[in-house]
Amino acid sequence: MKYLVTGAAGFIGSNFVYHMLEKHKGDLIVGIDNLSYAGNIKNLGEAEKNSNFIFRKADITDEKGMAAIFEEFGFDYVINFAAQTHVDRSIDDPGIFVRTNVIGTQILLDLARKHNIKRFHQIGTDEVYGDLPLEATDSFFVETLPLKTSSPYSASKAASDLLALSYNRTFGLSVTVSRCSNNYGPFQFPEKFIPLMLINAMNDKHLPVYGDGMNVRDWLYVEDHCEAVDLILHNGRDGEIYNIGGHNEMHNIDIVKLILKELGKPESLISYVKDRKGHDLRYAIDPTKIHNELGWLPKTKFADGIKSTIRWYVDNKEWWEEIVSGEFREYYKKMYGDL
Ligand code: NAD
Ligand code: DAU
Repeated sequence: MKYLVTGAAGFIGSNFVYHMLEKHKGDLIVGIDNLSYAGNIKNLGEAEKNSNFIFRKADITDEKGMAAIFEEFGFDYVINFAAQTHVDRSIDDPGIFVRTNVIGTQILLDLARKHNIKRFHQIGTDEVYGDLPLEATDSFFVETLPLKTSSPYSASKAASDLLALSYNRTFGLSVTVSRCSNNYGPFQFPEKFIPLMLINAMNDKHLPVYGDGMNVRDWLYVEDHCEAVDLILHNGRDGEIYNIGGHNEMHNIDIVKLILKELGKPESLISYVKDRKGHDLRYAIDPTKIHNELGWLPKTKFADGIKSTIRWYVDNKEWWEEIVSGEFREYYKKMYGDL
């Protein structure tokens, strides 16, 4: 089998490449990424030593370039991770989110259709459901909820999910969509909450907590997400959406305190800053469908996953130091001022 993994040099894409190389040993995995600010070829260092992996620098919005890659390989499966992914950046500059997440997905879908591939899997997000009230702890995101997006990021992701599903209904292309909760683990770019807090704590810098820190996210270890996508890709039903999450809701502030404790740093490093515009209150996935239909359950407990993630960032200082010393500094200053 031949798989195209887009966004392969990003956080989840690179973890997925390693998952596939391990779980589908005889198959060819082709990873593409335009190596945007969030894509890092070093994330694929070990994969590039494997003869079953090929990397190509390519942009999903470049129709000709992508067409040539489809011609060359004749893929059986496409898994589309490539996207602009950071909510804060989407508030600052929505245009690139629409171009990448909507137009890029449409270009891939047209190529998948033309080449008659076995299945197209669209990586979606739970953010398309909007948010849940903080106090309604017995309410969860189910697949049948109407979409109610808050940010340009989530709106562009909702559009790409719907486009993918429309290719199933209208053209009969085999499509599945997954909507996962917040991931954490190795190779996550330092603009995101957990790595940002970890790195700042290690550097004895302030930890910028938006609002009062009471917003809730539902955290899942990245390998559990990869395993769920692999299952849906091969065994999921055509035209279906599957939520992925492990009932691990936590207030942001509790994660910050846990990180400080693990690293032996004082809580005086916590700095409450201006809230994110349109900040979603609570995300919480109901994973009943994927559990009942495909038998999926997360394997990594948060207590273990967060410890190994902290260890990874402690052990891989070179990886993140190179990122935070580059153009990231300008982004940081724009977002957080002199904090
Ligand atoms: P990421 O930003 O680390 O990775 C995205 C990758 O896509 C980067 O390597 C980037 O360079 C690449 N990319 C961007 N534009 C591209 C283009 N035009 N052509 C080719 N490549 C391009 O983000 P991530 O967290 O790994 O997210 C991957 C996918 O998972 C996204 O679709 C995201 O919406 C979804 N998702 C993420 C989470 C999460 O918690 N991180 C949860 C649910 C869903
Ligand atoms: O739920 C899935 C989504 O999770 C994915 O679709 C997105 O790609 C991914 O970025 C993530 O979105 P969030 O907005 O939930 O993640 P982020 O890491 O940006 O923020 C997590 C929480 O932490 C959120 O409530 C905002 C808060 N936060 C974030 C940053 C960067 C802070 O308090 N301070 C910060 O500096």
